[in-house]
Amino acid sequence: MVGEPVAEDKFSFGLWTVGWRANDPFGEATRPTLDAVEAVHRLAELGAWGVTFHDDDLIPFGSDDGERAKRIERFRAALDETGLVVPMATTNLFTHPVFKDGALTNNDRDIRRFALRKVMRNMDLAAELGAKTYVLWGGREGSETDAAKDVAAAMDRYREGIDTLAQYVIDQGYDLRLALEPKPNEPRGDILLPTIGHALAFISTLEHHELVGVNPEVGHEQMAGLNFVHGIGQALWQGKLFHIDLNGQHGPRYDQDLVFGHGDVLSAFFLVDLLEHGGYDGPRHFDYKPPRTEDMEGVWASAAACMRSYLLLRERARAFRADPRVAEALERSRVTELSQPTLGEGESPADLLADRTAFETFDAEAAGRRGYAYAQLSQLAFEHLLGAA
Ligand code: GCO
Ligand code: MN
Ligand code: MN
Repeated sequence: MVGEPVAEDKFSFGLWTVGWRANDPFGEATRPTLDAVEAVHRLAELGAWGVTFHDDDLIPFGSDDGERAKRIERFRAALDETGLVVPMATTNLFTHPVFKDGALTNNDRDIRRFALRKVMRNMDLAAELGAKTYVLWGGREGSETDAAKDVAAAMDRYREGIDTLAQYVIDQGYDLRLALEPKPNEPRGDILLPTIGHALAFISTLEHHELVGVNPEVGHEQMAGLNFVHGIGQALWQGKLFHIDLNGQHGPRYDQDLVFGHGDVLSAFFLVDLLEHGGYDGPRHFDYKPPRTEDMEGVWASAAACMRSYLLLRERARAFRADPRVAEALERSRVTELSQPTLGEGESPADLLADRTAFETFDAEAAGRRGYAYAQLSQLAFEHLLGAA
């Protein structure tokens, strides 16, 4: 049976998740304001390891220096009391009307400069609090009409912005890496860097590309109808999975931000399997929204549910990997054979041409008749997921 969450599990939550007052485009808030200090204490009691924040979650936009210092001090005291860490921080570049056309790619140059300063200021705080990752979610970078954005110019400015921020990290000697968070739409009609793939391609053009990776979110890729597990697999393969936002989503529709596991369960199973066995050792960060129907008791129940879902899936994934029948099935499906290079050691294209068994005498008809036994393999995974194996 799964135990309670512990620090080694590296579960973290954004202040804005449990603190969401549930105001949506159709209705007002259904819950009271949650004090950051209380959030830290409650999360620690539930077994979380870390807490993350946007600058404005902690220090309301426009606060004076005195107010700012006071808020930071209270937050820091709560961290010290509970032992909670701050693994990641990020910037709110979307709530204030100044960002209605975006931040780093806003058509207005002075707003782009203001946005960079806002990020730099919170990077100072992130570094001070020991964060290792700085997330950039460009929710307002985009448009509702293709007439509004010169996309090539926007990409130039996006690159300039991220390069400037990476340079700042280097100049300050901060132990921070940047993680871009893709999302296809919402709040903009269309958002730039809509998927993991777009973000990875963009990163390869950066001056300090080694400092920049991705922070993919389950629901965001699924909103675009994409396979999240494949996206994470490629990000890991490219050494770019710096952080992850876990939640639940039912296919392409608005961003549901459900409790982790309460969406596509099978995908969540394979995701946890990949994270646990694929070499990711970063935070397991929940970016979800406690449903609008819930009171504060429900909020804490939903936070506990995120962690418990992860632990249950991890237990099932471990059982799946440890099952000799699974090892056999993987062999039968030749999943393991894919790790074998296609060419022999030192084999050149000319050598391949000279190998008559590869083509001239290859029996494509017979090879085409081979079954892959994926149905059995897939069912084994499903049965493990249900605890029936
Ligand atoms: C969303 C995003 C945000 C970001 C957060 C961190 O869809 O609203 O997921 O929650 O993760 O702003 O930058
Ligand atoms: Mn989301
Ligand atoms: Mn997110």
